[in-house]
Amino acid sequence: MSEAIKVRGPGKVLFGEEEISERVAWMGRELARDLEGDLAKDDEDAQSHPDRVVILPILTGAFVFTADLIRSMPLKMSIRLVTASSYPGEATTSRGARLRGVIPSDLGGRHVVIIDDILDTGNTLELVRGLILEQNPASLRIVVLLDKQVPRHSEITPNYVGFEIPDEFVVGYGLDWNGYYRNLREIVTLEVE
Ligand code: XMP
Repeated sequence: MSEAIKVRGPGKVLFGEEEISERVAWMGRELARDLEGDLAKDDEDAQSHPDRVVILPILTGAFVFTADLIRSMPLKMSIRLVTASSYPGEATTSRGARLRGVIPSDLGGRHVVIIDDILDTGNTLELVRGLILEQNPASLRIVVLLDKQVPRHSEITPNYVGFEIPDEFVVGYGLDWNGYYRNLREIVTLEVE
């Protein structure tokens, strides 16, 4: 179903390339430092586990952010991909979160980090977080690049936030509208008529 709005294309730049790059590198260092702290507290049994830090990016939107974030984390980690969608096709309002595929089922006892591009209604993160918590991870952290300032029912509180943004649909740096604009280097608003 398409909406009654007409999309013109990318609009105002909210965050430029350099600002994003500095912020993401800082987030990666903070996250790595906090994970190191947790790893040091693990008991002997846990320390012998080969796969203690699991990074779980929510695709598709988080792929650019994740690629930059993990490269500023000097830490042994494995990466598992989860795919979800809440803005199918040309929509610019959420249609409820849906998972495509499955969440890895071996996260118990591990330090899990969920990475998402943007926290909007919170439905996606709520869904993914619930499925992970059922597995009793050693720790669970949520990292989002953008936190949209909207009233939300969800109680999701990310541990790390890149930037807060107003209630506008944004694209670029992995975020899309109808599959387009993920390759933009900046984060920009989507202009509609
Ligand atoms: P919820 O509402 O579940 O949304 O917190 C999270 C997912 O929805 C997508 N999303 C957006 N994508 N511009 C986008 O390109 C936006 O402004 C936007 N708001 C939400 C995104 O995939 C996110 O993971």
